[in-house]
Amino acid sequence: MCGIVGYIGEKQAQSFLVNSLRRLEYRGYDSCGIAVADGSIEVYKDAIRVETLERVAPQLGGKVGIGHTRWATCGGPSQVNAHPHCDCTGNIAVVHNGVINNLQGLKQQLISEGHNFVSETDTEVIPHLIEKYYNGNLEKAVEAALRVVEGSYAIVVLMAGEPKLVAARKDSPLIIGIGDRENFIASDVPAILDYTNRVIYLEEGDIGVVTKDSIKIRRDGTEVDREEHKVLWSIEEAQKAGYEHFMLKEIHEQPKVIRDTLGEYTSSAEPVVDLMRLRDEGIESMLILACGTSYHAALVGKYIVEELLRIPMMVEIASEFSYYGQTLARTLAIVITQSGETADSLKAMKRLKEVGCRVVAIANVVGSSASRIADQTIYTKAGPEISVAATKSFTAQLMVLYWLAIGYSKADARRLASMLLELRQLPSKVQQVLDNEDIILQCARYLSKYENVFFIGRGINFPVALEGALKLKEVSYIHAEGYAAGELKHGPFALLGENTPVIAIVARDNTYEAMLSNIKEIKARKSPLIALAEEGDEVIGSLADSVITVPQVDAIFSPVVNAVALQLLAYYTAKERGCPIDFPRNLAKSVTVE
Ligand code: F6R
Repeated sequence: MCGIVGYIGEKQAQSFLVNSLRRLEYRGYDSCGIAVADGSIEVYKDAIRVETLERVAPQLGGKVGIGHTRWATCGGPSQVNAHPHCDCTGNIAVVHNGVINNLQGLKQQLISEGHNFVSETDTEVIPHLIEKYYNGNLEKAVEAALRVVEGSYAIVVLMAGEPKLVAARKDSPLIIGIGDRENFIASDVPAILDYTNRVIYLEEGDIGVVTKDSIKIRRDGTEVDREEHKVLWSIEEAQKAGYEHFMLKEIHEQPKVIRDTLGEYTSSAEPVVDLMRLRDEGIESMLILACGTSYHAALVGKYIVEELLRIPMMVEIASEFSYYGQTLARTLAIVITQSGETADSLKAMKRLKEVGCRVVAIANVVGSSASRIADQTIYTKAGPEISVAATKSFTAQLMVLYWLAIGYSKADARRLASMLLELRQLPSKVQQVLDNEDIILQCARYLSKYENVFFIGRGINFPVALEGALKLKEVSYIHAEGYAAGELKHGPFALLGENTPVIAIVARDNTYEAMLSNIKEIKARKSPLIALAEEGDEVIGSLADSVITVPQVDAIFSPVVNAVALQLLAYYTAKERGCPIDFPRNLAKSVTVE
């Protein structure tokens, strides 16, 4: 997804802009550009990588500038469609994340008033509108322009001769970083972590006027106060730390993420969410909404909650939620989102609030839009997740769900004590999976030659099969499908054969015998079979072609160790195929469009 940066201070803006854009590359992009004001505005942009921009862009002298990484939506990736975009005079430059819904009407009106457009983008109307409304005061012109714009935006505006940047947001995140005789603007925290950890999160409808010495925030024409926050993520956490890819580093961080996330909640005397109080207040059912990997965590959450709390849990894909007709009053809704910026999840949250639901967000990014909409936010302690493919955030989300359910579990005292013990041991169990890379690497080499793969699981590991398939397809580009093992015979059997490997997750729970039967059926159809099975399983070796062993855990925690093994499998398969693992084609880290 697009990334925004801005700098104003006493140093050359260009090197800050390029460095910060590099920190945002993980969001995914297909073009990039910068604009720097040094008397007049100089723009350099193209459908190129940031490293190329750094190499080929001329040295621009100014101390105030803006930059952007664009992920094409309105108009293909090209030099002319890349941001920043300018008005007719070339004196106003704008970078924009979001979508303008009333583009056609605005553009036609502006053309009839003599404005010339050069790109296919929706963004280009913004500098023209600002030009139209400019009457000697830039922030007032921005306010006037945004009054006629319908849609979502995070924008930063630069104007020749004005020693300031004007930033505004609606439904798309934007932060201001506070420095010493310099200030920064960015769509995302990692962009500015090299320079400062003091930030202000702009709120919906805010307009920030940023000079090198001051930050003023206006809303509806009046100045407002916004709290300064300290970002606890370090720049090291947002760097590769010697790993070849962020994805591998983030997979390896999971023992720590489990410790940190559990530590946060186990140390508190207060329950994470006071379910008993909510029940007394009339909450009758629970619903989890999410997208992608977070949705898979939600599906695992259903098994956890239903087993431990004995209450039904609905789970929905956030983008489908608008089309359902449930009665939702008296529902506790939990929305899981790593970024806290996923448009589909935010839309669902707004609808939930409208119908009177209590909304709890499980998010990883402090200050994200989800946390502003939710009644309560539970933060996962995954640290910055840079790789587009989610790994450690999934595990952290599961930890919150485990803790939430265990706190009110209907399980007997012995089971509870044993679950708590297992939870404490989980980091070392995950470490064992990480230390068992050799067999995973061998399986990855084998898998990398195929183009179609099935992942199967049962019970609480069915969502893990979905997640394993998602990871493999997004980073290795192998077509992969996750299936409930019992469903294969209802259609997909037609695709089985020598060229379609199956990865079976074999848990030692009430699904075990049925899974062994499925494996025999699959082998009878000649599909190569890789099993993910517990240490000590004596039977599986004689049925599967290869076995990846994971440590023994209480079945309820098996999704954690299994998911980590499948993340490594996806990673090494993608590496074997030479894929750009951290930035898979066509994907973005946070999906801020519906
Ligand atoms: C897959 C992946 C995506 C995200 C999805 C939701 O590896 O990263 O499927 O899980 O886009 O993102 P969040 O959790 O930020 O709402």
